[in-house]
Amino acid sequence: MVKEMHITVPVALHLDHAQSVERCKEAVDAGYSSVMFDGSKLTIEENIELTKQVVNYAHDRGVSVEAEVGSVGGNEDGLVGIVRYADPKECLRIVEEANVDVLAAALGSVHGPYKGEPKLGFSEMKEISELTEVPLALHGGSGIPKEQIKKSIELGHAKINVNTECSQAWAQTIREILINDKEIYNPKTILQPAMEAISDVVEDKIELFGSSNRVTH
Ligand code: 13P
Repeated sequence: MVKEMHITVPVALHLDHAQSVERCKEAVDAGYSSVMFDGSKLTIEENIELTKQVVNYAHDRGVSVEAEVGSVGGNEDGLVGIVRYADPKECLRIVEEANVDVLAAALGSVHGPYKGEPKLGFSEMKEISELTEVPLALHGGSGIPKEQIKKSIELGHAKINVNTECSQAWAQTIREILINDKEIYNPKTILQPAMEAISDVVEDKIELFGSSNRVTH
């Protein structure tokens, strides 16, 4: 799709939360520009070792690699996790030993809707960003108040994952259409506005993250 659609801006195709080295290799071979190996449920030694294998394969083929330390809580695609803060020393080890390009250092964010106000660990964020000197990835980016998002960017986040807010906008739009018009049945008429609702969320995020008109070729 990326190659055939003649898109006029650079496209990053990223594999999120792969749980195996094989899966990452498959994505690299399929043309992804970036992959994430999520070894956050493993010991740090195992995480580093497997991340290293992904990095060796991916870097040889010009593909960047994201690693995760600590644990993003919540529920994503049925995978339920608890919040476990990233340890700065482990973050430095994985960056130095596995040579990753981007680090997801879990600091209190969760996948899916937040219960109450998110409380991100900003002092740890600063410490990890200064220590590792790699761009950080913020998982669980939906539902985080704007000020906390801006602060996370100032403290080193260069990639913010937003899925739940897009899905919620899609579901809300379809729900309203079906409730308001009991006669409607054409999938296109139902789905088109839902797709546009996702676009609106994405546009808002691009604006909030300071990414609009920042394309570099
Ligand atoms: P949200 O569930 O907050 O949108 O997070 C998505 C995410 O981090 C995907 O990796």
